[in-house]
Amino acid sequence: MLLTYAAAAPGKSALLLGASGEVGRHLLQELLQDPQFTRVGEYGRRVTPADKIEVGKGKLEQKTVNFDKIEEAGLKDGKWDVVYITLGTTRALAGSAAAFEKIDREYVINAAREAKVDDPSHQQRLVYCSSGAANPHSLFLYTRSKGLTELGLAGLGYSETIVFRPGLLTDTQRPDPRFMESLLQRLFNLRSSWVTDYAIPTTGVATAMRIAGELGTAKLPAEAKATTAGGDTPFTLIDNLGIRALANDSTDDCMSQWLEVTGTSSELGKCLAECVLERGHIIVATLRNPTDLNSLKAKYPPEQLLVLKLDVSRNDDIAAAFTKVQEVYGRLDVVVNDAGYNIVGEIEDTPEEAAHKLFDVNFL
Ligand SMILES: NC(=O)c1ccc[n+]([C@@H]2O[C@H](COP(=O)([O-])OP(=O)(O)OC[C@H]3O[C@@H](n4cnc5c(N)ncnc54)[C@H](OP(=O)(O)O)[C@@H]3O)[C@@H](O)[C@H]2O)c1
Repeated sequence: MLLTYAAAAPGKSALLLGASGEVGRHLLQELLQDPQFTRVGEYGRRVTPADKIEVGKGKLEQKTVNFDKIEEAGLKDGKWDVVYITLGTTRALAGSAAAFEKIDREYVINAAREAKVDDPSHQQRLVYCSSGAANPHSLFLYTRSKGLTELGLAGLGYSETIVFRPGLLTDTQRPDPRFMESLLQRLFNLRSSWVTDYAIPTTGVATAMRIAGELGTAKLPAEAKATTAGGDTPFTLIDNLGIRALANDSTDDCMSQWLEVTGTSSELGKCLAECVLERGHIIVATLRNPTDLNSLKAKYPPEQLLVLKLDVSRNDDIAAAFTKVQEVYGRLDVVVNDAGYNIVGEIEDTPEEAAHKLFDVNFL
């Protein structure tokens, strides 16, 4: 089951740069699973082999690109709604400080620039995986480069830029383990409070990034503790604790995001639907007479509220409702069966037909 925070408009497209990396490979699978994204682009110097793609192959567009000639890659043509970047390197891997800065900063900023469309009416969101302690004035090359990259990205003029600053990644599974990373992981495992404050699993970063890309800054939950940074070139900043909260809460709190409530015309059903909608979740409200929910329909967009006619005693109605939900949202997490009624009276006096009807509605 895919877990998410709240409703975002379905039918969005996402581009991911860095999908072959540790965070990127988890993020790619999340995006492919996510019904909110109907098109996912994976552009990189190498792309994920087909046998490693678990779901959503049909919506994946892969392209091998040369980051030294990124202007030839046609990134703009995809008109991506959300551009995710998990591309980066280390000085050791790059071979020199200059090569590190070229890959970690120039490649990232140039690619983001190329992915930005010229049409100012197209809202595009940029989500970048930076690093804890990123600071453009840092004495250290790695954190300075990340800080400068953040500012460079924020200056590109995307509708919004969301920067993640994760701590140490705790569960990397690299074919060639990195000495310092492994050492720090072992050290951190000795102190659980360090892990909580300064480290995070790669899956957590991927989940939090996907959620932030879906929702955008304005709809981020308070637990993400998003702040604004960047001075003259502002961007939204989410640090390690915010990433943890966003990722963990999405699993703890959001089991019931795609809800179907039957019998929504009842006071309890209507009240439940309103309460869930107010929290930004997606709901399918079913009832025998859909016009009873006209006022609710007027308040919420069709991406968040789908009202369907359903008599729970009719099998054809039930089948049609589930087919429609599959067609529109592609998933359903929880069914709240609120449809029901009672007959008050003596059993002996209850007509058989009425008893059957009661049983059909309440039980079957
Ligand atoms: N590791 C940590 O503990 C940690 C902590 C905080 C933040 N971060 C940052 O978070 C981001 C993601 O981390 P990660 O561990 O997932 O990174 P990663 O596993 O090293 O993946 C980096 C991605 O960048 C691509 N890349 C690297 N060099 C490239 C080049 N020369 N040309 C084209 N693509 C290149 C890689 O593609 P290839 O597969 O083709 O090499 C891969 O897709 C990075 O920016 C990292 O600095 C890491």
